[in-house]
Amino acid sequence: MPAKIIAVFNQKGGCAKTMTTMQLGGAFGLMGYNTLIVDMDPQGTAAIWSSQAEVDTPFPANVISLAPMRELMIKELKKFVRDYDVILIDCPPAIDSPIPWAALQVADIGIIPVIPVLDNVWASVKAKELAARAQRENTGLQTYFLISQMRRGNIFAACLEQIKNDPDVPLLEAVISLRNAYPESQAFGTTVQGLSKSSEASKEVRKLAKEIIEKLQMQGA
Ligand SMILES: Nc1ncnc2c1ncn2[C@@H]1O[C@H](COP(=O)(O)OP(=O)(O)O)[C@@H](O)[C@H]1O
Ligand SMILES: [Mg+2]
Repeated sequence: MPAKIIAVFNQKGGCAKTMTTMQLGGAFGLMGYNTLIVDMDPQGTAAIWSSQAEVDTPFPANVISLAPMRELMIKELKKFVRDYDVILIDCPPAIDSPIPWAALQVADIGIIPVIPVLDNVWASVKAKELAARAQRENTGLQTYFLISQMRRGNIFAACLEQIKNDPDVPLLEAVISLRNAYPESQAFGTTVQGLSKSSEASKEVRKLAKEIIEKLQMQGA
């Protein structure tokens, strides 16, 4: 079976694209899926993150940067689809970048992380438009919103409701909360599960991974 491809995209910077990619990719790796993370952001955050790991406790997925190839990376990806079970593409935030468009041409699933605040909700219109255009070309593509950095408060709950009621893009059930464990895991070149398997952060990441596995009908690792 060729690898399932997941594109994590949103033109909005700071909405947790890299965090989602790394935690989800790491979760697949820990479940036994042979996992490749492709860092398409010229800032190289995903690649630097994984390089923080100690040699004897490597990041649980392979991470490579293909950012200099820009949209040509989809040709390069063809070399990897037979060797991996799942490939995640961490897209850059640039609005006019051709990279998310290219990634969505080859993806099985597109995940749009959104912080439940109004500026993120407003900006998500652009990501929705891109998803709709991509789905006309790549008819098998599924796209979902993912709530990231959820926290307590009326404005966050109200924005979550608004995203949930979006008529075009469904919302994943799993929710990623704002927790210290997420940035802490970067310091050790690991994921939240690498810090503690029983933490609340680990539970929500595993729930997300299981939900994506179901949507993609991935076979057991
Ligand atoms: N669930 C979370 N809890 C706490 N901090 C988070 C969480 N998700 C992301 N962050 C932090 O928010 C910032 C933006 O996240 P990042 O994944 O880099 O966004 P993007 O890739 O979309 O630009 C980073 O500093 C990251 O460590
Ligand atoms: Mg990023």
